[in-house]
Amino acid sequence: MKTATKTGSKSSTKSSRSSGEGQGSTTNGMESSGNQQQQGSQQSQPSYLQRFFTDQLKDMYYAEKELLKGLELMKQSSTTEELEDAFEQHHKQTGRHIERLEKVFRIIGKKPEAKKCEAMEGLLREARTIIDETTEGSLTRDAALIIAAQKIEHYEIATYGGLVQLAVTMDLDRAASILERTLNEEEETDQLLTDIAESYVNVNAEQEGGYSWQREEMPQLSNSF
Ligand SMILES: [Fe+2]
Ligand SMILES: [Fe+2]
Repeated sequence: MKTATKTGSKSSTKSSRSSGEGQGSTTNGMESSGNQQQQGSQQSQPSYLQRFFTDQLKDMYYAEKELLKGLELMKQSSTTEELEDAFEQHHKQTGRHIERLEKVFRIIGKKPEAKKCEAMEGLLREARTIIDETTEGSLTRDAALIIAAQKIEHYEIATYGGLVQLAVTMDLDRAASILERTLNEEEETDQLLTDIAESYVNVNAEQEGGYSWQREEMPQLSNSF
C-alpha cells in the first residue's frame, strides 16, 4: 500500500447524500448552528477521525513493543542463520518503528501511550505455540515461524497503510512520511521472509519426513470453478 495522492474532491457521506446537504454544512457530523462561539468550541474538540487515528497509533505503539519481545524469542528459536539474521535485523527496525511512533505522537501534540492490541497478542501467541509444537533445530520450525512472522507483518502493513492514508487525508504530511518509512520496512521484511522460505527453508523442511496422507484423485471440477 502506498500513499494516495489527494484529489481535493471527496465523496459525499451516506448522511449528506440522504439529506441532500452539501459539503461544509456539518462539523464532525453535527449540524452547524452559525453561532461563532459554538463553532469555536466544536473546532477545539478532536474529530472522530482524529480520535480514531490516535487510537490506532496507541494500538501500534503497544503492538510494536510486544513484537520486540516476540522477535527476540523467534530469533532464539529459529534453526537457520538466514532466519535468525532476518529476525535480528527486524528487531532493530522495530525499535526504530517505536521511536517513529513517538515522533508522530509529538507531531499531533500527544504523549506516547500504549493501548492493548488484541490482534498482536493473538499473533504472538500463535508464534509461541509453533515453537512449542515443532522440533528444535528442524527446518519445519523455520517454515512455520516464517508464516507466523508474515502474519504479523501483514497486520502491521494493513495498519500502517491505513494510518498513512489517514495522515495524508488530515494534512499531517510529516506524520505520513514518517509512517510510510515504517510501512516500507514492514513490506521489505515480508518480502525477505518470502525469499528465505522459497530459496531454502521450505524445500529442506520437505526432506524432514515423508507424507502420511493418502492422496485422492480430485473429482472432476465443473467449469464454474
Ligand atoms: Fe513494525
Ligand atoms: Fe514488523
